Amino acid sequence: MDTTSKESTKIQQHVDIEGHVGIDEHIGRDLEYSAAYRWQHWIRAFSIIFLIATGFYLAVPVITPTVTNEPTNFMYALFRTWHIIIGFVFIAAILLKSYLFIFAKKHENERAALWDVINPIVWVKQIGFYLLISKHPKLRGVYNPMQFLSYTLFYVMAFGLIITGLILFVHVYHEGLGGFLYEPMRSIEVMLGGLAFVRELHHILMWGVILFIVIHIYIAVYNAVFIKEGTIDAIISGIKWHKRV
Ligand code: HEM
Repeated sequence: MDTTSKESTKIQQHVDIEGHVGIDEHIGRDLEYSAAYRWQHWIRAFSIIFLIATGFYLAVPVITPTVTNEPTNFMYALFRTWHIIIGFVFIAAILLKSYLFIFAKKHENERAALWDVINPIVWVKQIGFYLLISKHPKLRGVYNPMQFLSYTLFYVMAFGLIITGLILFVHVYHEGLGGFLYEPMRSIEVMLGGLAFVRELHHILMWGVILFIVIHIYIAVYNAVFIKEGTIDAIISGIKWHKRV
């Protein structure tokens, strides 16, 4: 796998199946994901979990508010307010990541994955790897082609959630940003066939994201187990381990 910055090289101790310890190969430590990349990943992950949890409530308000002397305690409005606040955190993280992918020098290894997407040999080897019949292909970028396409689909869904979310938002807050976005969002709402469908689409896209998360975690664990380069550790530390030979 191609990488950007080489931090250091060291010899790793190898323990074979019978427990013999020996030094048998050179392993390199490479910075795979920048700090900005890792931060936005986790901010996005936690915001998505929060948005799904509050989204389920907004779809079906199952919690009965505590009875007080007030005529109503605006519980639904409270959930919606927090959903919108975290919704804007999600929007910021998605926009930051899109900017990094397109323009940042440190993210060249992400863009390089496009070469693997158009290479049929990499596709065949990658599918073979997931079927446990061939070795993992040598990649030019940090993502394999299937991973790259599934992330692209994730971004389509994320932008869909953002647009439909903003349409719903302008019907709740009419001042400030809500007022500023009102006309453009109304035009998109009309193109989509009305507010009822927009809400339906927002909901369906949530299920798309839930499906993505399940597959994403499964594949990340699969890669960590079979490739042994520290796939999961890398999204926390930024470091992956690569053979130098
Ligand atoms: C991962 C991202 C998101 C998920 C999973 C999500 C999920 C949901 C769900 C399930 C609903 C209820 C829809 C229904 O009636 O069935 C909802 C409503 C809503 N969402 Fe989101 N959402 C996300 C992002 C956003 C964003 C970015 C915004 C905009 C800032 C937003 C604003 C809203 C608003 C205003 C409502 C309507 C509440 C109402 O009907 O009063 N959402 N969301």
